[in-house]
Amino acid sequence: MASADIGLIGLAVMGSNLALNIAEHGYQIAVHNRTAAKIDEFVNSAGPLKSKIIGKADLAEFVQEIKRPRSIIIMVKAGKPVDEMIEQLLPHLEKGDAIIECGNSLYTDTNRRFDYLTPKGIGYLGVGVSGGEEGARHGPSIMVGGSKEQWHNAEPVLTAIAAKFKGEPCCAYLGEGGAGHFVKTIHNGIEYGDMQMIAEVYGVMRDGLGMNPIAASEVFKQWNKGPLNSYLIEITGHVLACVDAQTGKPLVDLILDKAGQKGTGRWSAIVAQELAVPATVIEGAVAARSLSAMKDERVAAEAIYGKRSAAKADITLDVLEQALLAGKIVSYAQGFAVMAKASEENGWNLPLGTIAKIWRAGCIIRSRFLDQMAAAYEKGSSANLLVAPDFVTLMKGAHPSLRKVVAAGALGEFPLPCLSAALSYFDSYRQGLGTANLIQGQRDFFGAHGFEIAGRGPDQHGTWPSTLGN
Ligand code: 6PG
Repeated sequence: MASADIGLIGLAVMGSNLALNIAEHGYQIAVHNRTAAKIDEFVNSAGPLKSKIIGKADLAEFVQEIKRPRSIIIMVKAGKPVDEMIEQLLPHLEKGDAIIECGNSLYTDTNRRFDYLTPKGIGYLGVGVSGGEEGARHGPSIMVGGSKEQWHNAEPVLTAIAAKFKGEPCCAYLGEGGAGHFVKTIHNGIEYGDMQMIAEVYGVMRDGLGMNPIAASEVFKQWNKGPLNSYLIEITGHVLACVDAQTGKPLVDLILDKAGQKGTGRWSAIVAQELAVPATVIEGAVAARSLSAMKDERVAAEAIYGKRSAAKADITLDVLEQALLAGKIVSYAQGFAVMAKASEENGWNLPLGTIAKIWRAGCIIRSRFLDQMAAAYEKGSSANLLVAPDFVTLMKGAHPSLRKVVAAGALGEFPLPCLSAALSYFDSYRQGLGTANLIQGQRDFFGAHGFEIAGRGPDQHGTWPSTLGN
């Protein structure tokens, strides 16, 4: 007799924590893992939740253990392992069952899997889960895409285990096919931008203001009580305060300045480019991580150009806080603009206000700011966040500070790739008269690409010299 409400395959850290979260919410869960020993180990270490968990080493028995229509979460490494798992599961599934894939998958892979399984009568949900290990165990933010009918079967469980913001679950169905994984990808791109801009501000504190990590930590702790209140600002305060037990030195001073990346940030920059939506903060953050990894080259170049001047930056901490806020507004405006365009292109009808809402708790980019964004969408904002009335007020107050910090960075020779990208975007976005008229002239000169003249229409051409003198 099938007794499990849901199944889960893949008992690595994220899978195990999700399974425990589901069990803790009173659901009976069947679990399976490729390495069978891991199943017993997991069940035996589940303590009081053990009675809610049924471990099955045989895949067919695992599937039979789940009540129909079945909801089966797969939490395996993104890429080929997901396709292999789908193929293994398929012969055991029946019409109406659903596979719920919760890894960081590329949304086009999810689109493909959705299109493959739908005609077979098998539901496919591509679900973004954010919040790291802690989130998976105690309440992640859950971004669902895929088969709507099967979503309704899994909805009670996924809603129960999600983080709650003032009682509202941070879990929602966002659209067909790869919509959920797409939104998670943009979440990660925004995460990259937030982290990079925070690191840039730390750089101003360290190199421009001569602050030590403890002093910087205190500032971030203070900022966490204001408009920048967020998980990433909070953990930054903790990271900066941490002392290495072996040396007694600030840990952050010992960590090599080479950032890793698994690819989701890069995907969001690529998709933004494909959609022709400028996401310069995300692009800057991805590039900054890549540049950080080129440690040897950077050290060699520093030897050639010399160290930056040690002059103190003429910046106050209040200005720095406002600059970060302005950078953040631009970054989110860009990320949401990418989602709006992708929604149009893919026919997803992404609910942008709901996305802001389900990011208010559980996920890595959770912040007070997202509550303001959700409110702006609720008030009917649909275009770029930079023109939403509440954000216009915030930005009018904050952009002069961003300007001061970026100028100080340029003169003081400390790099601010994302903050300066945010400022350039803002200045370009609010500029009624740009300079692309000259680009159009150049394009027409060498390629007869044509240009538009107001009152004369498109496809106009200039009379250019046929030969160039020296
Ligand atoms: C989350 C995170 C998570 C991501 C890590 C690492 O929302 O919980 O986005 O999914 O895997 O942040 O990403 P990078 O290794 O690319 O920094």
